[in-house]
Amino acid sequence: MKKAEGYQSITVPEARLDEFFQVVQWAFVGEWLIEDRQDYIDALPVERARGLEVTDERRGAVGEIAAVHASFGTEMITPGGRRVSAAGLSWLGVHPSHRRRGLMTEMMHDHFRRCLERGEAVSTLYAMEAEIYARFGYGMGAQTVKASIPRGPRMWKVEGADELTVRLERADFDAHDQLVADLQAKLTRPGTILNPVGSGRNARFTDPLGNRKGMEKWRIAIVEDRGEPVAYAFFRRKADSDIGIHDGICQVREHGALTPAASQRLWETLTDFDLVETTYTENLATDDPLLHQLKDARGARSKVIDNLWVRLLDVPTALQSREYFHDCDVTVGLTDKHVPDNAGTWRIVVRDGEATVTRAEGAVADLTMDVRHLSTVYLGGTSVESLAAAGQVLEHTPGQARELAVAMMSPVAPLANWDF
Ligand SMILES: CC(C)(COP(=O)(O)OP(=O)(O)OC[C@H]1O[C@@H](n2cnc3c(N)ncnc32)[C@H](O)[C@@H]1OP(=O)(O)O)[C@@H](O)C(=O)NCCC(=O)NCCS
Repeated sequence: MKKAEGYQSITVPEARLDEFFQVVQWAFVGEWLIEDRQDYIDALPVERARGLEVTDERRGAVGEIAAVHASFGTEMITPGGRRVSAAGLSWLGVHPSHRRRGLMTEMMHDHFRRCLERGEAVSTLYAMEAEIYARFGYGMGAQTVKASIPRGPRMWKVEGADELTVRLERADFDAHDQLVADLQAKLTRPGTILNPVGSGRNARFTDPLGNRKGMEKWRIAIVEDRGEPVAYAFFRRKADSDIGIHDGICQVREHGALTPAASQRLWETLTDFDLVETTYTENLATDDPLLHQLKDARGARSKVIDNLWVRLLDVPTALQSREYFHDCDVTVGLTDKHVPDNAGTWRIVVRDGEATVTRAEGAVADLTMDVRHLSTVYLGGTSVESLAAAGQVLEHTPGQARELAVAMMSPVAPLANWDF
């Protein structure tokens, strides 16, 4: 591991946010529009904006910010509808003049240390490149289905869907933040990221012009049952036509529904806009009700890609913050290069859905794995047995990979609904 010599970690003050944004634009290859500045500020968890500043002139101009990151303080739903305190890592970038000097490594350690001080047992992120984060202990905790649904798909009817009403409005923080938060509080899908606290909490409503690519501003669809919201979705459309044939698209971002009927009414609405031929989304869980309601699911041309990356920071707290679906008694030998307190042998005993996780130094491990593998299976979307079959988890006591797999697999597939 390289050490970032000649740099120091700082909290980036509000007065230096433009420097922070400059590093982000360099790292992510883009030039923002001046008029989007406020949107970016609104989307940033400002009090958790961190940077690495040059302290040695051999590295660059002393005092300049060379690398940045920030994180959202959130709760995440875990299997069984429980919650864990989780930090959503975002905005991580290193200025190209300072790459491959260990700055990212330094920032990851800074992030892990501060999360643990705040009592955040898990870190989550969306990965720009899939290969980068496994080395820091992140595992692919949830996958998503990308789908392109042709207009007006035929569906297996769900009773009660026709009785629900739909409101279509421009998405607005003041009008809809509480409504979304109240609906989310009733969701049980693991991986769901609840509204963040502090600044940046309206990030899901920001809408920089430079990102719109000719699409309208974000709209929101709200499905109601006698005035009570039962589903919501953020969406936006773009008109297009060729020789008079209308070929517009609708993009659906975060969404949630409390009942099968609400889900059907929501998707019937989102796939039936005039002048729109295709509704596109990257936010379907692999078991989303829509996929079982479509008569021609193949017609949605789906692809599965990675969604949320998960990293357990405090292993016993994280494991005890979810429900289990079978009793088990398994001893796990864990490696963790970046948070050494997690390394060692752990005994996981589950009785009636509750886990007790204790240190078992000296015990013979039934399974050995790295923290990234435990992080991969944490939300219950991937089984320990499949990681053993792939040669990633080693099984020393026959049958124990299955024992832990059955206890940890979630009956509901995980998905993070909000791309932070
Ligand atoms: C990716 C990025 C953050 C790496 O920063 P960095 O300071 O050069 O990384 P470090 O020097 O700390 O390297 C950390 C390790 O990751 C590896 N690594 C770095 N970039 C990588 C990449 N793109 N793919 C795979 N591995 C990578 C390094 O080889 C190093 O491995 P080692 O510890 O075995 O030597 C930086 O290049 C960047 O900002 N890129 C553009 C923005 C981006 O992709 N951000 C991530 C957003 S999710």
